[in-house]
Amino acid sequence: MKTPASITASFIVSMVASLGLLVLYVLGGQAQLEGVLLGFALGGLGLGLAVWATSYMNVPEEVEERQLMGEPEPGAEEDDTAPLPGMEDLSRRKVLLRLLAGAGGTLAGALAIPAFSLGPNPGDDLFRSGWRAGDRLVNLEGRPVRPADIPVEGIETVFPEGKVGLSDAQTVLIRVDEGSLSLPEGREEWAPEGCLGYSKICTHVGCSVGLYRSAAQQLLCPCHQSTFDVLTGATPIFGPAARPLPQLPLAIDADGYLIATGEYSAPVGPAFWNVDRGA
Ligand code: FES
Repeated sequence: MKTPASITASFIVSMVASLGLLVLYVLGGQAQLEGVLLGFALGGLGLGLAVWATSYMNVPEEVEERQLMGEPEPGAEEDDTAPLPGMEDLSRRKVLLRLLAGAGGTLAGALAIPAFSLGPNPGDDLFRSGWRAGDRLVNLEGRPVRPADIPVEGIETVFPEGKVGLSDAQTVLIRVDEGSLSLPEGREEWAPEGCLGYSKICTHVGCSVGLYRSAAQQLLCPCHQSTFDVLTGATPIFGPAARPLPQLPLAIDADGYLIATGEYSAPVGPAFWNVDRGA
C-alpha cells in the first residue's frame, strides 16, 4: 500500500502553522493572522488523520494464489534484497506516527497560548475597594463632607479623599431620619446622624444607582429598575438585582467630617465570584 503524500504534507503544514502561531504570539501577536494559522494547524492535522484513516479503510481485498509444494515463490530469486513483507509498511507507519506526534505536540503548544494571555492573578482585589478605614468622604469637588452638608432626604455622590473618580469606590451618601432606620444586625453604628453610604454600583450588572425617591426612601437603578430600600440596608425590593447594595460603615471624626471605618459590607458590583459565599 502506498502512503499518500498528502498525509505527510498535511502534518507538516499543521506543524509549520503551529510553530508560526507560537512565534507570532511571542513577537506580539496579530489576531487575524493567528486565526489563519490556527485554522491551518487544526485543518492540517485533521486532514492528515482523515486521509490516513481513509487509506487504511480502502485496502482492497486480495486473494493470494496457492503455490505448489516446493515451487519457489514468484520473484523470490529475482530480488532477495527486497524488504520482508510488511516491513516497508511498518517503517512508513513509523514516519507517519512521528509526524503525527510532531503536529500534535506543536498544536498543543499553540493551544496553550490563551493560558499565557490570562493576565495576572487578581488575588483578593475583587473583594476590596478603594476605601480604607479613616478615609474622609469627599464630594465630586474633593471637599470633605459633614453630616450638616446633607439635608435630611438629600443625596450626594462621594469618594475617598484623594481618590475622586475611583470607580469601585463611588458611593451614594444619603441622609435620613435616624429613627426610621432598620439596618441589619451589627450595623447600628454605621449611620451617624442618619448618614448612610451605599455603593453606587448596581448588584445586578453594574449600572450606576443614581436615582433616589426620597419620599419612599428608595434607590433606583435606571437600567432595569432594580429598587433598593435605603432604610433596611439597601435590600432589593423590586427588579432583577438579588443582592443588597454593599453598605459603607461611617463615623464622624474629631473635626466633624464623615469618614469610613472600613470596607463595604460585601464586594461591590454584580460580584458573581462571590455568590457561593452567600454574600
Ligand atoms: S444594572 Fe441595575 S437593575 Fe440592572
